[in-house]
Amino acid sequence: MFIDAINIINNNYKDKFTIPSENLYPFQWNWDSAFSSLAIHSFNKKKSWDEIYSLFNSQWNNGMIPHIIFHKKNNKYFPGQDYWKFRGKIPSTCISQPPVIISVVYWLTQIGDDKDLKNAKIIYHKLFKYLKWYNDERDIDNLGLIKIFHPWESGRDNSPDWDEAMDNINIKIDANKIRKKRKDLNHVDYSQRPTNNDYYKFISLVDFGNKNNWNKFMMYYNCPFQVVDHGIQFIYIRACKDFLKLSNKLNIHEYDDVVKSWIEKFTLGSEKLWNNTLNCYCSYNFKTNKLSTNISCSSFLSFYAGIGNNEKKNKILTSICNSINNNKYYFPSWNNNSKQFNPVKYWRGPVWVIMNFLICIGLYEDNKIISQKVLDNTKELIEKNGFYEYFNPINGEGCGGKNFTWTASIYIITKNIQKYAPIFYNQ
Ligand code: GLC
Repeated sequence: MFIDAINIINNNYKDKFTIPSENLYPFQWNWDSAFSSLAIHSFNKKKSWDEIYSLFNSQWNNGMIPHIIFHKKNNKYFPGQDYWKFRGKIPSTCISQPPVIISVVYWLTQIGDDKDLKNAKIIYHKLFKYLKWYNDERDIDNLGLIKIFHPWESGRDNSPDWDEAMDNINIKIDANKIRKKRKDLNHVDYSQRPTNNDYYKFISLVDFGNKNNWNKFMMYYNCPFQVVDHGIQFIYIRACKDFLKLSNKLNIHEYDDVVKSWIEKFTLGSEKLWNNTLNCYCSYNFKTNKLSTNISCSSFLSFYAGIGNNEKKNKILTSICNSINNNKYYFPSWNNNSKQFNPVKYWRGPVWVIMNFLICIGLYEDNKIISQKVLDNTKELIEKNGFYEYFNPINGEGCGGKNFTWTASIYIITKNIQKYAPIFYNQ
């Protein structure tokens, strides 16, 4: 099975980057590359760094790393490069994705050697520019809250976390035309994918951005979809912390003060995401000033960000234990006590192993036993069901794309855990 995982990654490897899955996602995706470069490092360091450099080559002048990079034209995906008014050197989308890559660069220096440190140094300033972009363009009002302008930026495309915000979006497109353009349904059953209605709204939001040239002020103040994704918020805080550790290793200190100020600001801002009814952090809709209504897997990333006092941590741990006790495979992307829960539909219930991996890292410091339990459960889930994009938490059935790079990547990491151990015990 380990060899199968390596084969999947090698088959999905194109020219200096890995695609998530043949046919369904034929380009480079931002946070997918973070997980694949981490795994590839265990068997081919050069390829691992090439993957990272490919990603950073796509960086826009303003610092953003796009969510999809269309290195080579391919009509198998919609909305492809012709649909986006991109401003980078390489065709791309105009939105980003959770910045896991920053932490991955630091982790590679933790598990690697001097050569890895040298490689990290080459892109060091680009890492900073990416962090700065989040601060400068997504928190213009200095609230310590990162706004996202499209559900795709969260990486959790059709999570019920976005339902309220999406309900308020008017469809301003020719729905028939868009329905016909969808390519994903040629590969995965409709029951497991976002609805057509979701797609009409996804595309309406892209149209809004294009019409406004993705201008930061227009987006920040007028975008019809303005939410804080607690996932991005936490991954960003962690990225800032890991960036500081990398700076220390490289003995470069010019950005220390500003990055520390971001950590402080966004940590404070996160308290606005605390939901007293749910007893955990959740997402927030700027348009209605409302917090989300239930617990999603991103709620468990607060440990990864290292935020929350002991009282809050204990409350979240209780929810984590409940989720473990109530599901054969954890963590469902949306709490199964909710009527929006659907065990096979994209981000509305299934388990995503990349989320588990980040949760495990975060939990390690506070509760090693639970962290290990989640890792074991995740490994078993893949071993019993294969390298699918996501999984039904009730019976483990694989859903979505097959031969999926990030699932193979997490498997390789769990099987090689000795090599990756410093990430866990040296945080
Ligand atoms: C889906 C996921 C997103 C991922 C992409 C490629 O769009 O929601 O998080 O990056 O597929 O795997």
